[in-house]
Amino acid sequence: MEGGVDTKAILDKLTIEEKISLLAGANIWESVAIPAKGVPAFKTSDGPNGARGAKFGDGLTSACFPAACCIAATFEPELALRVGRALANETKSKGARCLLGPTMCIQRHPLGGRNFESFSEDAFLTGKMAIAMVKGIQSQGVSATVKHFVANEQETCRLTVDTIVSERALREIYLRPFEMAIKEANPWAVMTSYNLVNGEHADSNALLLKQVLRGEWGWDGLVMSDWGGTNSTAAALIAGLDLEMPGPTRWRQPEVVMEALELGALSEQVINDRALHVLDFAKRLGCFEDSTIAEEKSIDRAEDRALIREAASKGIVLLKNKDNTLPLTKEKLLGKKVALLGYAKMGLAHGGGSASVNAHYRVTPWDAFQRELGDVVEFSFAKGAHTMRNLPPITENITDNQGGSGFTWRLYHPGTTEPVQVVHGHKLSEVDALDSQHIPNMEVILEATYTATETGPCYLTCSGLGPSTLAIDDRIVFEQTENCNDGMAFIFGGVPAVESVVELIAGQQYRIRIHTKPPVKIPGVDLGILEGKIGVRVGHMLASEHDKDLLTEAVKLAKATDTAIVFTGHEPSWETEGQDQLSFHLPKDGSQDRLVCAIAAANPNTIVVNSTGVPVAMPWLEDIKGLVQTWYPGQEAGNSIFDVLTGTQNPEGHLPCTFSKRLEDCPAFGNFPGEYDENRQLTVEYSEGVFVGYRHFDRLPRDKINFPFGFGLSYTEFTFSDFSVKESSKGFVATVNVTNTLSRAGGIAVQIYVGKVGNPSTDPIKTLVAFKKVTMQPNEMVRVDMPITKQSFSGFDEETRRWIVRGGDYKFGVSKSAADPVLDQIIYIEPQIFAL
Ligand code: BGC
Repeated sequence: MEGGVDTKAILDKLTIEEKISLLAGANIWESVAIPAKGVPAFKTSDGPNGARGAKFGDGLTSACFPAACCIAATFEPELALRVGRALANETKSKGARCLLGPTMCIQRHPLGGRNFESFSEDAFLTGKMAIAMVKGIQSQGVSATVKHFVANEQETCRLTVDTIVSERALREIYLRPFEMAIKEANPWAVMTSYNLVNGEHADSNALLLKQVLRGEWGWDGLVMSDWGGTNSTAAALIAGLDLEMPGPTRWRQPEVVMEALELGALSEQVINDRALHVLDFAKRLGCFEDSTIAEEKSIDRAEDRALIREAASKGIVLLKNKDNTLPLTKEKLLGKKVALLGYAKMGLAHGGGSASVNAHYRVTPWDAFQRELGDVVEFSFAKGAHTMRNLPPITENITDNQGGSGFTWRLYHPGTTEPVQVVHGHKLSEVDALDSQHIPNMEVILEATYTATETGPCYLTCSGLGPSTLAIDDRIVFEQTENCNDGMAFIFGGVPAVESVVELIAGQQYRIRIHTKPPVKIPGVDLGILEGKIGVRVGHMLASEHDKDLLTEAVKLAKATDTAIVFTGHEPSWETEGQDQLSFHLPKDGSQDRLVCAIAAANPNTIVVNSTGVPVAMPWLEDIKGLVQTWYPGQEAGNSIFDVLTGTQNPEGHLPCTFSKRLEDCPAFGNFPGEYDENRQLTVEYSEGVFVGYRHFDRLPRDKINFPFGFGLSYTEFTFSDFSVKESSKGFVATVNVTNTLSRAGGIAVQIYVGKVGNPSTDPIKTLVAFKKVTMQPNEMVRVDMPITKQSFSGFDEETRRWIVRGGDYKFGVSKSAADPVLDQIIYIEPQIFAL
């Protein structure tokens, strides 16, 4: 790297052991420092929609921004840029200089657990939003980390799943957004994915890292592994994985690397190259000028609040508005009764896992409506449906062995009876696996006396990462003898646990004993990052709550009100890193669908506000008046929803993914999450090839989908006229006049799709090649120019291994969505070949 400190000279002063030490983290978030040689450490922080800092669950609070799917729905890269800038400042406030985001995987299947933290089903939209976000982050001197490189579109068996994908689909769909971001925004870091790609782990994949990323794309930043996603010593180093994360190392102990050097499996040059990337990265982050890792701070900035509210309300998509039921303006609502049902009192701000944030606050829809209109409208609330995924932990009516509130926690070496640590007052019936880093390979017993508050059945669940038992008055009520069958799912929110029932008597005391052990070592099975961790979750619920009929109360309210708004969605435990969704239907067990159906039958003015990062089944769609998709809007959730429902913000979001009616019609159906072999090794075939998202649905009848990619209504209307496409030095420029025909200001994302006329069935009918958000005053007309490059609709030819545009007639269409073309023009294009 040019200028400033000479990293090459520093490298030359390091011993080989010191160089090796730089190639893995020092701890979970930081790199290794060598103060004697002037080498500083840097700190990283998750994640894509907020900088969380070092603690996973209950660290200092942070600003929680809208999830990437919501940002993508704005179709406004400029907003992504501003959010990126703000995220960089958040990163700094947590003492970090490298943000672990954006997530750029493709929304391949609606059940994908991390779709919400990815932008879109479309490579071009993903690439454009990521470019802007990376530019925003790095404009503040903070590194973005584009992740997860690559073909990481599911969570089931994410550490070991082998993704089998054709080179064409890999290049056109999965690598393309990374290629766009690498070439146009130069992110300083790339994170490899956990999975294998065509038989080779991504972190050890020379084809991806050496040939494509560093070779063809000429990129020179830092490659780090996903957390626990390093899978080899020599192969990963040779392939180009600079940094194993987290630390301390599992693969790069000095003696192991030295042995590989001595055996000739590795050359010193490889170590030098990898270590130089680490030093150059630290230099880019300014660590040599100032090596301090600042204390974490929680800064709740007014400008972040405003930006989050703006971005979220622009990303919310209006999907249905029968009889112009929306907006619910103050005038319309004056003196009326409105039922706010379902999740109205919960701010569904973010998804689960490393993209979750301990938000400064979460505005609920109830808060926003009550605050703004509570004096003129009579609001009422009912939950209406059971939605909880895990029974809540026991936190009340428990006394530890010293008589204080909580559990007594005892830590043991396996198989021993003398605890090495005893702590009283442990707050809940859980051992958090993410916090058990510091106590590997130990056993924990939690003990407390529980005083029952109710006579009758009490539902209990217990699940552990490793073997675990739950005993009440020395009677074992739950025993798990084996390891959890999906450790990653366990860590991020829990695997479905079987409920057992015990009968309790009010006022009586019961001894609770929870015993958990680290996962059993199984010969030939590498537990990876989960090795030696302990974790257990015991949940409980009294029958009076568990078996309560919530629906009847909600229906009664809906009947007595003028309008009913049902807030549906996924809590973080239902949509999270670590596991894919269990069902296309809203959880749990159809309870939310039953709620919407019953409310729609009871109240003719029913509106559904859905907060998920993915499309879901909508069996009630025909029966409701209005539908709004909010994604995960961040900490201002309630305010942004309020803005859109009342018309303070005219909705201008567009879907970044197709909303299919049925799961069976989705492109990856039947190939998600893949097939297990006799050794429980999962392989997923991306058999749909390049037919992902609308590229697939374009070939099906329109009635297979509820809403197409790119779709979004407004409270005003737009017309397009005078569409023309002209050749330019870089490709083409499409021009169209857009007119706002009604008396309300608003915005629309104008979309251009291109497809070859008479395409063979092996090619998609069309692809998105340009889009632009235009906002207009009432009755205003705007002339919009959109540049289009030929590369954006070129295809990868597997035979010649080149990007090509075949010669022929091409249809350029201007559209309001992938299924709503308005005007088009046919242009003849000469064949063309592009360099890799
Ligand atoms: C996730 C990454 C994340 C890392 C650190 C991993 O489990 O896949 O996206 O950045 O953890 O939390």
